[in-house]
Amino acid sequence: MAENSGIIRTVEEFVKGVVSEYDSGHGWSHIERVVRLALHIHDTEERGDRLTVELGALLHDVGDHKFAAHDGPAEIRRLLGELRVDEKVISEVVSINEKISFSKGESGSVKSDELMTVQDADRLDAMGAIGIARAFNYGGYKGREIYDPGEGFAGPGNFGAGRAPASGTVNHFYEKLLLLKDLMNTPTGKKLAEERHAFMVKYLEQFYREWDPGDR
Ligand code: ADP
Ligand code: NI
Repeated sequence: MAENSGIIRTVEEFVKGVVSEYDSGHGWSHIERVVRLALHIHDTEERGDRLTVELGALLHDVGDHKFAAHDGPAEIRRLLGELRVDEKVISEVVSINEKISFSKGESGSVKSDELMTVQDADRLDAMGAIGIARAFNYGGYKGREIYDPGEGFAGPGNFGAGRAPASGTVNHFYEKLLLLKDLMNTPTGKKLAEERHAFMVKYLEQFYREWDPGDR
């Protein structure tokens, strides 16, 4: 197996190429933040294998369902195989790529330490100040309103299964962003999620105050 730093550099260049086709909410800076968060969680928790966590974070969005031009698992196997990464590490990185997504839900299967770590990091990057920026950025990319008061929810607390997908980006908070704190896997992830969640709740309160100052 080549030196880890050489492997990481090669994989970084590969991922930069792949994500340059994505909207900026999925771009390289998202990947860099998820790598930093995942390594921070790993170094705090001291569970799992560090190289697997770093490669899993770097490669987690390759083949994302919204940008389906890439077959994530196949490309990861080919790339890491060429770099002579251990088969055990490759299998785990592929498994992270396959299982990480929020929309794929909780499969019920036991998660590895490395999957728990990278999944928490990816979810944390959808929360807090960065998460808010990414949501509105994504909404703009899709040509959506920032908020559609006619969509039929009253405000914080009113969310749940079975609702239609958001047309205004504020509804995405109730579909997903406010649910993430209860899905954290690791103690460190939970702690960071609490802070980011509280910030989003505060943000929404201010948002509604500004939307209609007369609506008390
Ligand atoms: P995952 O792959 O974990 O399901 P997504 O690819 O759905 O995550 O989301 C990536 C980013 O885009 C997140 O920051 C998410 O909040 C944002 N996003 C996804 N769908 C929407 C939406 N309908 N409105 C606003 N932001 C969205
Ligand atoms: Ni991601």
